[in-house]
Parts: sequence; C-alpha cells; structure tokens
Amino acid sequence: MILVTGATGNVGSELVTRLAAAGVPVRAMTRSPEKADFPSGVEVVAGDFDKPETLPAALDGIDRVFVVPPGYGPEGPVQERTLVTAARAAGVRHLVKLSTSGVTHGATDPLSSGHRQGEQIVRESGLAWTILRPGTFMVYLYGCAPTIRSERTMYVTEGDPVSAMIHPRDIASVAATVLINPGHEGRTYTLTGGEALSPQRQAEVVGAALGQQVRVVERTRAETQAEFDRLGWGGPRLEALLELKRQSAAWDWKISDSVEELTGSAPLTLHDWVEENIHIFG
Ligand SMILES: NC(=O)c1ccc[n+]([C@@H]2O[C@H](COP(=O)([O-])OP(=O)(O)OC[C@H]3O[C@@H](n4cnc5c(N)ncnc54)[C@H](OP(=O)(O)O)[C@@H]3O)[C@@H](O)[C@H]2O)c1
Repeated sequence: MILVTGATGNVGSELVTRLAAAGVPVRAMTRSPEKADFPSGVEVVAGDFDKPETLPAALDGIDRVFVVPPGYGPEGPVQERTLVTAARAAGVRHLVKLSTSGVTHGATDPLSSGHRQGEQIVRESGLAWTILRPGTFMVYLYGCAPTIRSERTMYVTEGDPVSAMIHPRDIASVAATVLINPGHEGRTYTLTGGEALSPQRQAEVVGAALGQQVRVVERTRAETQAEFDRLGWGGPRLEALLELKRQSAAWDWKISDSVEELTGSAPLTLHDWVEENIHIFG
C-alpha cells in the first residue's frame, strides 16, 4: 500500500485520486481526517510530521511513501528526518520525495536549502528513493486572483521570472508513475510545464479565458512586502518566497522534457489550468 502525505494539498490530492482510479491501494494522511473528502476506497489516516507518535499508525503496512514536506527552511529537514525514522521502523521500501527545482539550479534561498537538506536525509535513509523537483506550480496564480477578479489587474513583483509553470496534476502523474512502476529508484527528476511564460503572457492567458483584458502592474519588492504585510500574509515565508523568485529568474524559464518522458503525455498548459479554475478569477 502507498501512503500519500500532503494528501489534501495541490499535488497529494491529485495523486490520491489518480492512484485510487488506477485501483492501487492508497492511504491518505492528513492532520484533519474529519474534514477530508477523498474518493471511495481511499483509506484516510491522521498523521502529523510534527507529532512523531502519530506516524507508526500512518505507516503500518505501507511499502511506498510520497513525501511532501510542508515546512521550509529548518523545519523541512526536521520533518523529513522524523518521517524517515518512522518509515525505517515500519519497514517501508521506497520514498518518493517532493522537492524543488531550485535544488537542481543551486539556489540558496531558504526553501531550496531546506529541500536540499531534506533530499540528503532521504538519500541517506537506507531505503530506495526517488526525488521529484518541480518548478513553480500554476497554483501560484491563486495569489493573483483577488485583484484579477476585482480590478482585472495582476500585480507582480519587479523581476518576477519568466516561468515554465507546471500543473500540479502533471507532478501527480509523474509521482504515480514512479511509485507504481519499477526502475525509478535512485533517480532525480526536474519537472516543468511545456511553455515558458512571462507575467505578461500569464495575464494574457487569463484574460483570453475571461474574454477581458487583464493588465499587469509591477511592484517593487518593498511594495509587495508592504501589501502582503497589510493582508497579514507577510513574515519569513513570504521573504523566502520572494528570494526564491528573485533567484529563479535565472532558470525558471528552462523547460524539462521529464513530464512527457515519464508519463507519455505532453504537459498540461496554463490555459488548461485557468479553464479549470476560471471561477476564482470571476
Ligand atoms: N508552490 C510551488 O510553486 C512549489 C514549487 C516547487 C516545490 N514546492 C513544494 O511543494 C510542497 C507543497 O506541496 P503542495 O502545494 O501540494 O502542498 P499544499 O497544497 O501547500 O498543502 C500542504 C499539505 O501539507 C500538509 N501538512 C501541513 N502541515 C503538516 C504537518 N505538520 N504534518 C503533516 N502534513 C502537514 C497539509 O495537510 P493537512 O492540512 O490536511 O494536514 C497539506 O496536505 C512544498 O514542499 C513546497 O516547497 C512548491
């Protein structure tokens, strides 16, 4: 049986659905099972990386784990270490870790650094491992939705990268492939979408789906920080994200063929993602 951590998140929820549809026995881990809504046949288990005592029950009878560390910076590796210790004790055979493309490109921001350390813990676990390193998720545009809805304006931070954004379902498809099929142990895959889009092009894709123009307004990094502080979204996580974005301008446009090579299908497009989520842009 496969345990999916982060099972209520962007990637994990798609992975649980995919595995269940393929008839693969799957257990979904969440801190709040009472709120969970998974397809029938999916086992749901309570588990929290920050409460190691919850993990033995989550891992009982499991041979493969999809590892989604929700933390960043120092917390990420701590959570991975906790999981690896429990997975070894439970007799798990294979860990598939969700990381980030920042590691491929030598990024030094806190998010990439946390994943780099987390990867090392997984590689040194003594268990079989596979690392998935996706670039920016298309769900990044959730953060732009409120002002696109209210003012048909997408606020970006100066220097925001041209990005080969990836649909979370493509990451889930790759994860399902490497979890179900042999031959991916000891492999690391960098994952992107199939087209590199500037913020202007991203706004045009949303605008085309809405049938209305969406303008792009650039903010300085300080203006972005001030606005997010005003909304209560500031703090170290935002700073880490802004630093990752600043550094990722050097590589976020690079396109990897891994999604198509591993799944046999071309990556989903931003147009696909926007059409599925058009309601958030109003
Ligand atoms: N967004 C991007 O552009 C991007 C790019 C590259 C890599 N990544 C990486 O992708 C990962 C996030 O994946 P995602 O977007 O699919 O997740 P997400 O939508 O942010 O959801 C977070 C998940 O983590 C679970 N969670 C939170 N705290 C937990 C804890 N203490 N113990 C156990 N589970 C916990 C949540 O489950 P419950 O609340 O149900 O417990 C939820 O399922 C991060 O490692 C991030 O660095 C993101």
